[in-house]
Amino acid sequence: MASWAVAALAAAVAAASFCATDPLRLGSMADFPNFEAHPVDLPSPSEIPPHTDANDRLRFAEILHRGEIQGPESVAFDPRGRGPYTGVADGRVLFWDGERWAHFAHASPFWTAERCAAAVRASPADYHADEHVCGRPLGLRFDRRNGDLYIADAYFGLSRVGPEGGLATAIATEAEGVRFNFTNDLDLDDDGNVYFTDSSIHYQRRNFKQLAFSADPSGRLLKYNAKTKETTVLHRNLQFPNGVSMSKDRSFFVFSEGNRGRLSRYWLKGEKAGTVDLFAILPGFPDNVRTNDKGEFWVAIHCRHSLYVRLLSRNVWLKKFLLSLPIPANLHFSMLIGGQPHAVVMKLSPDGQVLDILEDSRGEVVRSVSEVEEKDGKLWMGSVITNFIAVFDYAKAA
Ligand SMILES: *[C@@H]1O[C@H](CO)[C@@H](O)[C@H](O)[C@H]1NC(C)=O
Repeated sequence: MASWAVAALAAAVAAASFCATDPLRLGSMADFPNFEAHPVDLPSPSEIPPHTDANDRLRFAEILHRGEIQGPESVAFDPRGRGPYTGVADGRVLFWDGERWAHFAHASPFWTAERCAAAVRASPADYHADEHVCGRPLGLRFDRRNGDLYIADAYFGLSRVGPEGGLATAIATEAEGVRFNFTNDLDLDDDGNVYFTDSSIHYQRRNFKQLAFSADPSGRLLKYNAKTKETTVLHRNLQFPNGVSMSKDRSFFVFSEGNRGRLSRYWLKGEKAGTVDLFAILPGFPDNVRTNDKGEFWVAIHCRHSLYVRLLSRNVWLKKFLLSLPIPANLHFSMLIGGQPHAVVMKLSPDGQVLDILEDSRGEVVRSVSEVEEKDGKLWMGSVITNFIAVFDYAKAA
């Protein structure tokens, strides 16, 4: 084991050195004196769907609004089809009114243009030092019945704002007396109940890379009950739970488990109601999931699992040792994603079979995707680390 481990490591370091100029920022692991590493039950290579995109079709995506927006994670359209709306690095939810980006809403009561928007303009990056003050809207969903927008804000919990926008109201910030530290994504059922994820109770979004290293198993799957206004834990001990999306027939929803590279299914109806099973195994780290009109699921994936990830997934001692070395955490992260950020998006059938895969395997045009929203045959792709929205004309390409 030792010799291939060293070889893998050397390869990973070599690959990662290409990324020395990568704009992904990271603090040092020294900021986490109590850093704990946990094993990850990754799928074996033989379980990973073999599909690849030989033509790297994502390279042909159109890039919109480059430089006008920073880190548009989620992309949503309101019930009248207007938008897109997207949540960005300075804490705002922006609305494209057809001509320009307008400030639609924010979830932080402390949000000010001076402190929040100006800082991001001055130093565009995937996040800024004040995001815990300014907020960071991740998942966005409209309530189709009344036009309310629900926001999973990484710092300010599950929030809701009316169709006119403004300051959103936090409707859930804790469950079982434990505060959310990283609210991530959500979806609604027809009664207005909200299913959502808290990626970790220990790590915040600005430390998402450390959360990825640690595989901290404190993530929770939650339900906000629209009638009782109570929040309950549906499932716990998850490693970086992230995207949530209802099935078209409303009998279940799927949620992504970031560290483990898979989608799980939470049954809402039928004899399996209240139970969780495996929905699909994925080749990398899943982020958001969105359901299209046909009831198919689009899942955004950050990179394929690298050799380094496989090596570290069960060797917790090795992970702790490597992370304790004076190597910039940035480099560790590059190794984790196989040296080069690159986008992978997958379309799954309503029962979890792979229908299609689109990639930009060298990260030439679309190096990262956090969400895929299909509208009128086009795929709208946001990313928490890019400064644009990518649009792929799927109907035309098919
Ligand atoms: C939430 O995150 C903050 C910042 O990293 C940390 O200080 C705090 O201890 C975390 N909460 C819990 C319960 O670990």
